[in-house]
Amino acid sequence: MKTKILKPSRKAYKVAKNLIKNEEVVAFPTETVYGLGANAFSDNAVKKIYERKGREQDNPLIVHFARKKDITKVAVVKDNIEKQLIKKCMPGPISIVLDKKPGLCQTATCGLETVACRIPSNRVARSFICSVGVPVCAPSANLSKRPSPTTAKDVFEDMNGKIALIIDGGDCNIGIESTVVRVADGKIYILRPGRYSADYFRKNFNVEVVENVKSSGVPVSPGTKYSHYCPKIEMFMVVHNTLENINNLYDLKILEGKNPVILCSQTSEKFFAHKNHVVLGKDNIEASKNLFKVLREVEKNYDLIIAEFIENGDMKEGLFNRMSKASSGNII
Ligand code: TXA
Ligand code: MG
Repeated sequence: MKTKILKPSRKAYKVAKNLIKNEEVVAFPTETVYGLGANAFSDNAVKKIYERKGREQDNPLIVHFARKKDITKVAVVKDNIEKQLIKKCMPGPISIVLDKKPGLCQTATCGLETVACRIPSNRVARSFICSVGVPVCAPSANLSKRPSPTTAKDVFEDMNGKIALIIDGGDCNIGIESTVVRVADGKIYILRPGRYSADYFRKNFNVEVVENVKSSGVPVSPGTKYSHYCPKIEMFMVVHNTLENINNLYDLKILEGKNPVILCSQTSEKFFAHKNHVVLGKDNIEASKNLFKVLREVEKNYDLIIAEFIENGDMKEGLFNRMSKASSGNII
């Protein structure tokens, strides 16, 4: 299959509409990462998402909508906190797990009684969903286990020959996936951290917020149990005594004959001036935006990554989650 990359245009949306109608998949930009979309009502189409990505069959997909009123076509919104979340945070980088109504295909939700719903704030994403005329289920548009794609080029790297169309909306602004939440017993449970942080919910909703949900009364995001976001080369994440530990590890790896690279903040760049390094950003918001893109770049030129965990900013949990998974638990 030839993979076309088209900039957003009336023609591109028309091509996308035809592909979705023919039960095919289309990659599209969102404010978080690129998605691999298919008609949420078609088992046949949704199965192709799992095939093309190599995704585990028990990991449900997020359903994307263009308008708030469309959510209630597939899900029940009964709780006041759920209503407030939709009102305040959508469109935006959040997916709310709601009770499912009949109609959605089983493959999208892996037979669960719930469905994760999301309205992207990215205009191209919403125009795409509007033009295809059905809710679109979409995971991130990477091969399973690889870093999520934040540019059309990253999608092409993983999906060339596997899908017919990538809509190129430029770089994603946020760079890591949406915050996944579930409301239960009057509390907000964070199933996957993202741009909307626990503190944001505490400040704006005045309810108890539960983080790091492992297992309790609420369903944990099935996807969180799999290894994820891994570059092709070994990676370490340094959380404690960062300057000293990074320098020591780097020197040791050089002695071992490795070709390491340091990912660091703007502030600490001066300490690594004579070593291979890439600046992720001034704070964890910028670092999150650049992380996946940089992982895909440095794996081509080096054989080991040493990443500094950047504390400052209000995306700490999101960055920690993605970096620690990308490092497969190699945390120092
Ligand atoms: O920002 C995003 O969320 C991106 C863009 C494309 O929208 N999408 C994305 O999808 O990250 P994916 O498939 O890579 O991650 C979906 C996560 C998984 O961890 C999955 O287990 C969880 O959401 N999830 C989906 N449906 C769920 C449900 N009913 N209950 C609990 N977790 C659910
Ligand atoms: Mg993903």
